[in-house]
Amino acid sequence: PELNGDGAEILMKSYACQRRTPLKHHNAFLTEALEILAQNAEFNDNEGRSVAFRRAASVLKALPHRVKSMEDLRCLPCLGDHSQRVIKEILEDGSSREVESTRQSEQFQAMKALTGVFGVGVRTADRWIREGLRTPDDLIRTGQQLNRAQQAGVQYYSELQRAVTRAEAELIMAIVEAAVNSVLPGCQIQLMGGFRRGKEVGHDVDFLITHPEEGKEEGLMLKIISWLEEQGVLLYQKTTRNSYVERLDGPARSASNMDRFERCFSIFKLHSSASRSGSASTSESGSACDSGCRAVRVDLVVSPFSQFAFATLGWTGSKLFERELRRWAGQEKQMTLSSHTLYDSKQNLYLRAQTEEEIFAHLGLEFIPPSERNA
Ligand code: GTP
Ligand code: MN
Ligand code: MN
Repeated sequence: PELNGDGAEILMKSYACQRRTPLKHHNAFLTEALEILAQNAEFNDNEGRSVAFRRAASVLKALPHRVKSMEDLRCLPCLGDHSQRVIKEILEDGSSREVESTRQSEQFQAMKALTGVFGVGVRTADRWIREGLRTPDDLIRTGQQLNRAQQAGVQYYSELQRAVTRAEAELIMAIVEAAVNSVLPGCQIQLMGGFRRGKEVGHDVDFLITHPEEGKEEGLMLKIISWLEEQGVLLYQKTTRNSYVERLDGPARSASNMDRFERCFSIFKLHSSASRSGSASTSESGSACDSGCRAVRVDLVVSPFSQFAFATLGWTGSKLFERELRRWAGQEKQMTLSSHTLYDSKQNLYLRAQTEEEIFAHLGLEFIPPSERNA
């Protein structure tokens, strides 16, 4: 087995949800390369290949030391031939030709630029590229038909490209708390996603909201959104109603991991001065984003109290950690995990939980805290 510097054995488990993966690790020079190939596979609609590269990168993130030679990789799981070739080349030559040519290819760069627009997925970006478009500017210049999300995405493109800082996330937290408390006292509000895992920056800010009295949370999002709109905080919002139904015979099979909570994808307007000084200023109304203004993507999710632990686990991430949890549940435990429930197919019953710790216990997994779910 793999030995660490002290000659002690490292036992690398094969599911990411069985391992501790800190935010800062020792192998960014390898994981960044593998993640370029993963992203490129996603752009080519090859999910299997993409996940294989992401699993390989994730194993290296969990190593307690820097990889210096191929010897260090003996006995590690999830490293396929292709990943090993890439790693070998980087260790020997300092870089991988495949990674560098991918990074520089026009196709990859155009896909990155176009899918970087809020509201644009791989299929749409691919169609535009086949029509000769390359950048968000090309979309405006050629007068492309855009839906409402994409229009906002193009309009606030450069603002949304800028990383969201933790200070900005705290500021938005204060605004969301003010909104929620004024429409329904007694709610619980949690910062989710990357910020809950300890990241210092993010591409958006994610919130989960619930009320300890089950049922009180129904219709809450619409009230929150009207409050925010009255204050002139929202540059864009799209709200979806809760469509979750618990079936007695277990959860319906679903191809996507999209959950069915009441939710809102939005763009908040912050005043840059406020975002620097750390004090919220929401009195001005209007929906323009002028030079003294900052646009930030915000996701709001409302969960019934009985599903709150599952929603918390599902919205903490990372994306790979979530995927691995569901794979573990299905393949190793004959259970189905979602952001709503955990269903045991052997006993034909839903396993309830009040906390994330209880869900890990139901799954027969050691509890991994959010800061070590950076798989
Ligand atoms: P950054 O925002 O880039 O910092 O990273 P992040 O980890 O916060 O990513 P993101 O905001 O995209 O997602 C946060 C978490 O919510 C991730 O674990 C996702 O898997 C999860 N998530 C996002 N959208 C959905 C969804 O529609 N359904 C479910 N169940 N989970 C989602
Ligand atoms: Mn996020
Ligand atoms: Mn998000």
